[in-house]
Amino acid sequence: MRKNIVAGNWKMNLNRQEAVALAEQVLAQLPAENSTEILFGPSFVYLHKIAKMCTDNTHVFAASQDCSEHESGAFTGEVSANMIASCNAKYIVLGHSERRVNFKESNQVLKTKVEQAFANNLAVIFCCGETLEQREGGVHFDWIKLQLTESIFHLSASDFANIVVAYEPIWAIGTGVTASSEQAQEIHAFIRDLIIQQYDNDVAENTSILYGGSCKSTNAKELFSQKDIDGGLIGGASLNATDFVAITQSF
Ligand code: PGA
Repeated sequence: MRKNIVAGNWKMNLNRQEAVALAEQVLAQLPAENSTEILFGPSFVYLHKIAKMCTDNTHVFAASQDCSEHESGAFTGEVSANMIASCNAKYIVLGHSERRVNFKESNQVLKTKVEQAFANNLAVIFCCGETLEQREGGVHFDWIKLQLTESIFHLSASDFANIVVAYEPIWAIGTGVTASSEQAQEIHAFIRDLIIQQYDNDVAENTSILYGGSCKSTNAKELFSQKDIDGGLIGGASLNATDFVAITQSF
């Protein structure tokens, strides 16, 4: 059975004190009977600290926002998957549209990053999603299929068990415009179907597919009630403990 997951993507926000305070507030507000997997996605700089804060809670873990495509060596400023694993993170978010657009990360580079993550026993939240122009041009299905095909569909079924897919329409990220639950469900069902075609029904049924893009406490319930939406990758609303906790309780 697939898991419900709510992951906070803190992006380049919060200094160390603020990051620690946010994690403390979320952990304090979570109900004892929480069964959703909850992830904090801080800057690399505090990853170890935040991961350590999660160790007493069996459902809360740290995720990094990226990793280098290289194993190690002369890559000044880069952070390897091995370094991330040694900080006790459980996941790496890969292929966020802000990385794809601002840092020109191609499907091929992302494939290499996925391999780095798996070589270090880290699970991957793999992001995909279209621009508004692509949606209006009707090429969004093909685009998402290409993103998955070129970066993660080479994986074996057993490796694919460590993939969480996040559908993040670029036009909905940080814009306040959310995909309607019908629009999101349509793409999530499409992605699950691609996984059935590439692997089988069991693999698809066990893959969590998250929605991201202006998901907040006021719309999470409606989105998460859809058959193929297993949680969210949350940007802006993850920076407020009360909002974020409310989202984690929206199943
Ligand atoms: P948002 O960001 O919730 O602020 O739209 C989502 C994301 O970028 O993962």
